[in-house]
Amino acid sequence: MTLRPGPSDAGLLEREGVMVPRAFVVAENRRDTRDTVTLELVAVDGDPLEFAAGQFTMLSGFGAGEVPISISGDPAHPEVLQHTIRNVGGVTRTLAHAAPGTALGIRGPYGHGWKVADGRGGDVVFVAGGIGLAPLRPAILEVCADRASYGQVRLLYGSRTPEDILFTSDLHVWAREHDIVVEEIVDAGTLGWRGHVGLVTQLVARGGFDPARTLALVCGPEVMMRYAAQALHDRGVSPPRIRLSMERNMKCGVGLCGHCQLRELFLCIDGPVLGYDRLAPLMARAEL
Ligand SMILES: Cc1cc2nc3c(=O)[nH]c(=O)nc-3n(C[C@H](O)[C@H](O)[C@H](O)COP(=O)(O)OP(=O)(O)OC[C@H]3O[C@@H](n4cnc5c(N)ncnc54)[C@H](O)[C@@H]3O)c2cc1C
Ligand code: FES
Repeated sequence: MTLRPGPSDAGLLEREGVMVPRAFVVAENRRDTRDTVTLELVAVDGDPLEFAAGQFTMLSGFGAGEVPISISGDPAHPEVLQHTIRNVGGVTRTLAHAAPGTALGIRGPYGHGWKVADGRGGDVVFVAGGIGLAPLRPAILEVCADRASYGQVRLLYGSRTPEDILFTSDLHVWAREHDIVVEEIVDAGTLGWRGHVGLVTQLVARGGFDPARTLALVCGPEVMMRYAAQALHDRGVSPPRIRLSMERNMKCGVGLCGHCQLRELFLCIDGPVLGYDRLAPLMARAEL
């Protein structure tokens, strides 16, 4: 295993307080689905946390621990920091149950985001699986705010069941008011579900975008991203124009601990969003 110091280690270590969280307070805890909530947080010191779409923070529940969570809110409104959290274990359970008024810690924002503006003048395809819609939401909101600069915009969204679909009111607004083609697909339908059943990669294969001028942003379970990126590539989207968010295990978030290392990459500082040209040879590797 190659261990390399993060590119800015010396600077980071000199910078006082890089591991010290800022205090935020839960203003609202909104239930999205049976296992997922969105927290709205405001800074105790009143300073908004400016961020780029696709960045994450290290979010801590005092006494519970700290985990990386993507920012799911609108980059144009950093005064309310939104995090959408799926309750899967010890720390996320505590965060998902944080009532209004609870104090939480935030470090960041960290990492490289989607840079969706690179898609201006062409088509944009968002491919989301499950909670993967949360990190994409800020980029979708950015496109909505500047819709005239983009051509065809599609959101291809796969969920386990219809009950697991996130941001249902957003999906309607994006389709009705912002001319975004929203296609949903579920692994297992329920009574009354009239949409697609299957894998999100099937929606990619249906096309509806011009591959030569498409920017594709993909977020979801790693196996889904691998197949979605391959399907986009098969349709002719060039690998650097296919961007994936690699959400592997992270501890420090700032290039110091090595937990997120993927060969020569430290995903916390080199990613989490990276082009398929760099990731394709690495994606077969299991988490270190
Ligand atoms: C850059 C980044 C952004 C993320 N954004 C979000 C987000 O917006 N919303 C959200 O709900 N989660 C997000 N995650 C995943 C989140 O960090 C993990 O779910 C969390 O660390 C689990 O901690 P825990 O203590 O609750 O559960 P643990 O007890 O540590 O783990 C519970 C289960 O989740 C699995 N798990 C842990 N970490 C991950 C991971 N990174 N990816 C996949 N499975 C994992 C474990 O293998 C285990 O099966 C993100 C992760 C990264 C690296
Ligand atoms: S080096 Fe610590 S999480 Fe990336």
